[in-house]
Amino acid sequence: MPSSNDERRLFLAVDLDDEVRHGLAAHLTTHLDGRTLPGSSPPAENWHITLRFLGKVGPASFDRLVSQLDESELGPRFELGFGGLGAFPRPARATVLWLGVERGAGELARLAAAAEEAAVASGFMPEERPFHPHVTLSRVRPQEDVRGLLESIPPFPLVQTVRELTLFESHLSRGPAVYEALERFGLD
Ligand code: 2AM
Repeated sequence: MPSSNDERRLFLAVDLDDEVRHGLAAHLTTHLDGRTLPGSSPPAENWHITLRFLGKVGPASFDRLVSQLDESELGPRFELGFGGLGAFPRPARATVLWLGVERGAGELARLAAAAEEAAVASGFMPEERPFHPHVTLSRVRPQEDVRGLLESIPPFPLVQTVRELTLFESHLSRGPAVYEALERFGLD
């Protein structure tokens, strides 16, 4: 499909509370104890959990998606608890370091399913890849063995209430991407 200037790079995500953002930054600083995460780490203001990546979206699809999400049953608010660090595709050959989700994982998967349903009803192709909720903390190239590092960082103990689903635009530039919240859809 030809790309046009009207298209925007979008994704649906759960944004992190400021308290969680600051707490996670402090948690990593404490337990890294002078080390840094390998690879390239997005700034803390970019941390989020993607529920549905949408790619480049034109104005008509954007309007359909927003209407669908306005009408969607997103379910009740829920408590989201974080877990430990992990790595894709696996710790011995990591290319992505992430923070996982423990409490509320079922509710989060249901919210991702509602986002998927709204996307497909708006004309987007179904997502083929399984949903694996995570907060990306670093992208590692070339891959590294991070098994020792992961063992040295305990689970992150904070919990936040998920009250809304956020439609973000990703502005790519030479530095880190800038994520702009375009619309927020409240849970019950
Ligand atoms: P990541 O954090 O695992 O890299 C904005 O780029 C968000 O959309 C990021 O959370 C990123 O996931 C996700 N994303 C980017 N490209 C994607 C793709 N092709 N498929 C699925 N998710 C993608």
